Amino acid sequence: MNSADLKKFIQGIPKAELHLHIEGSFEPERMFEIAHRNGIGLEYDSITSLKKAYQFNNLQEFLDLYYIGAQVLLHERDFYELTWAYLCKVHSQNVVHVEVFFDPQTHTDRGIAFEVVISGIYKALERAKDEFNMSFRLIMSYLRHLSEAAAFATLESSLPYKQLIDGVGLDSSELGNPPKKFAKVFAASAKQGYQLVAHAGEEGPVDYIWEALDLLKVVRIDHGNRCLDDEALVQRLCDDQIPLTLCPLSNVALKVIQKMEEHPVKKMLDKGLLATIHSDDPAYFGGYMNENYYETAKALALTDAHLMQLAINAFEASWLDPETKERRITEVKDYFRAVQV
Ligand code: HPA
Ligand code: ZN
Repeated sequence: MNSADLKKFIQGIPKAELHLHIEGSFEPERMFEIAHRNGIGLEYDSITSLKKAYQFNNLQEFLDLYYIGAQVLLHERDFYELTWAYLCKVHSQNVVHVEVFFDPQTHTDRGIAFEVVISGIYKALERAKDEFNMSFRLIMSYLRHLSEAAAFATLESSLPYKQLIDGVGLDSSELGNPPKKFAKVFAASAKQGYQLVAHAGEEGPVDYIWEALDLLKVVRIDHGNRCLDDEALVQRLCDDQIPLTLCPLSNVALKVIQKMEEHPVKKMLDKGLLATIHSDDPAYFGGYMNENYYETAKALALTDAHLMQLAINAFEASWLDPETKERRITEVKDYFRAVQV
């Protein structure tokens, strides 16, 4: 298939996005517009100079910039516009289901009320449900570079909005902040009815993936690239069909891998792991869902069978109710069958 045909083919696949930080969908143009409206100066004097700073050697260099960008978000309207823009974009890419992360501490630590953040995000998600028939789940992430006590305080602040939140996650600086630091707050979160996921094995070692499974008791691993370093872990992930939400463009941008050709997703699929593809922080890493599928398919020469498996896996790994899940998986299969004829 040539590039144009492959892009068109990927466009048509019904897709689910399960690993997306809403603050990471903040496009520079919108960041400047909102900064201006809120009377906040950015360190960068133009969109061009900001974009030039998007060169990262590791996760931390990215996070430093990501937290600066998020500082211009003050009002419910800002969170709403950020989220709505993301949803419009992925709707145009035939994404039919999203599970979105937000980082409350990035905002509450600046004095923004939890309610302001969640109301803005949630109203946009509801609009996408009404207008696009897009289903959604919302995941609150604890920042792992902050303390366990701070995560407990965040859990407490979330309780009045519990009905709006489906799960908790763990993100930010991985190295030096192992999952075990958050074992108690994850247990407390589960007691409140939240589902559990965690970033692990992006930059961190396989031990962090084991800890996420055994100590945090997560139902999905975000990233998990490093699992191939440990055969027993691969076996465990396969046996329990624990999803791995991979983000190929993110991995290249943050130098988790040196080039796309080294991405482990094909090996993972071939081993029977429940691997899926997502965009992580698309405004920073050069692409949304379609671009992640396309660049991966091209670099690894993925077959139709691989692409179909990726699309099915994402629905399988989602928190959709069983009937909707089945319906979406059937739609994926029908799409591949129709296009092959
Ligand atoms: N990894 C860890 N934390 C994050 C990321 C990521 O890719 N994006 C936003 N927070
Ligand atoms: Zn992430």
